[in-house]
Amino acid sequence: MNPKENSDIPTAVVSGGVTSQQECKERVPEPGGLVIFGAAGDLTRRKLIPALFHLFQGGLLPDRWYVVGSSRNEMDDRAFRESVNASLDAFSKNDSGDPSLRERFVKRFHYLPGDFEEAGFYSHLRERLIRLDQAHGTGGNRLFYLATPPALYSGIVGQLGAAGLNRSAGWTRIVIEKPFGKDLASAQALSRKVRSVFKEEQIYRIDHYLGKETVQNILFFRFANAIFEPIWNRRYIDHVQITAAETLGVERRAGYYEGAGALRDMFQNHLLQLLSLVAMEPPSRFEADLIRDEKVKVLKSVRPILPEEVDRFSARGQYGPGILEGAPVAGYRSEPGVAPDSKTETYAALQIQIDNWRWQGVPFYLRSGKRLAKRVTEIAIEFKQVPHLLFKPLLSDAIASNTLVLRVQPGEGISLAFQAKHPGPKLCLGCVTMDFNYDGVFQIPSPEAYERLLLDCLAGDSMLFARGDWVELSWSLLTPILDAWNEKSASTSVPDYPAGSPGPKEADALIARDGRRWRPL
Ligand code: BG6
Repeated sequence: MNPKENSDIPTAVVSGGVTSQQECKERVPEPGGLVIFGAAGDLTRRKLIPALFHLFQGGLLPDRWYVVGSSRNEMDDRAFRESVNASLDAFSKNDSGDPSLRERFVKRFHYLPGDFEEAGFYSHLRERLIRLDQAHGTGGNRLFYLATPPALYSGIVGQLGAAGLNRSAGWTRIVIEKPFGKDLASAQALSRKVRSVFKEEQIYRIDHYLGKETVQNILFFRFANAIFEPIWNRRYIDHVQITAAETLGVERRAGYYEGAGALRDMFQNHLLQLLSLVAMEPPSRFEADLIRDEKVKVLKSVRPILPEEVDRFSARGQYGPGILEGAPVAGYRSEPGVAPDSKTETYAALQIQIDNWRWQGVPFYLRSGKRLAKRVTEIAIEFKQVPHLLFKPLLSDAIASNTLVLRVQPGEGISLAFQAKHPGPKLCLGCVTMDFNYDGVFQIPSPEAYERLLLDCLAGDSMLFARGDWVELSWSLLTPILDAWNEKSASTSVPDYPAGSPGPKEADALIARDGRRWRPL
């Protein structure tokens, strides 16, 4: 439980530095070619091209590599290279400013226009790749990246298989962006299709959250420190809150978001991945499949929410007009491309129970929403109250229990809140915070998630990618909730919450039913 803190007591911040450091392991992947389907799209311009450039600048790409960009747009290599330069101007965060470096980088980019539904496109692609493999000496190693609308995934995969592009003289891998399906049945159908052409070890399902430094650090924090594991269980932990709150609205993505909503967009992937990392058992070795096995076991232990329990364990909402950072913002239904009677949820909250020895009786509260009061993604481990409060007669208020917060973003770091005596003759306790902040301690910027993920698929390391069985399990947990919400939407509207607020009151009621409350946003 989380009783009121002594709010008149200031929060202290204690910080430290790096006291010792292990030698860091760096990998340079083997030579290879990258084929981007959807090369004119937002993901390629905003994320993939800048990420490749930062890797190139840091000497992390192999000497021999090339990119073939592809989309419907008619362009030649020169025009594509200009668009690569334009993406870097607009979205690259740390350009060394060396023009010859840029020149050498963009020279590796080639372009092939075409219709992804036409078999003819794939025979042109095959010929082009054979020539580029030879010219660049990449030994036939190829990575196909699907950065297209998801409706095209199945068709592209089928055509790659039909053209024999699922294998080569070297390795062949395929990267699939989210969303991987829109419910259990469609995810299973897509899995069947992809697995009929590629083997599981060739498939890299991206969840960009897994590439974030702070998310990767969850495992290091848990399993490279001896003091947390003994208390990481139901004996010491009261509950866990996982929050991914955004101030952004739907922006220009209504075409996708209207058919998705918060549960598909944020829970099926990012939030359930965070839950899996926090709740998993220690694997015996730091290996992709051992870690992914443990994550699968977590989802297998999650108690399914039955249709008749959906109102008890879930809440949803849609942002209405409101004030955010002092300025008025439109409600979801007035956003461009959104239906005026849309029932898509822009906020969701769940209470999840994990039925195993470690977590029995410890609820995990998950929430995520757009246009909320504050941007914050964090995992808060709320510990139990002390078993006997000997200071009780002397204190005017109950004391807050210890909270460990893993801050994913912003202000990436970790903090531990505990009670300390306020100096002076009066007996008075204050909640202080020991705080570790990545930027302050390491003094180097954390790489973007896509840099790490691209590097890993080029290096053949699938640890930070979602495995097929995990994806299907996540859909099997969420599909009954989506179905129940869908049924309800036929007769009722989705509860509104004002933009700039902490979310709908239904979500407060969800956690209040257990005598708890959300951490303030
Ligand atoms: C994406 C969702 O996967 O994650 C977006 O589609 C969301 O709707 C985004 O805004 C959040 O990512 P981040 O890295 O900003 O937390």
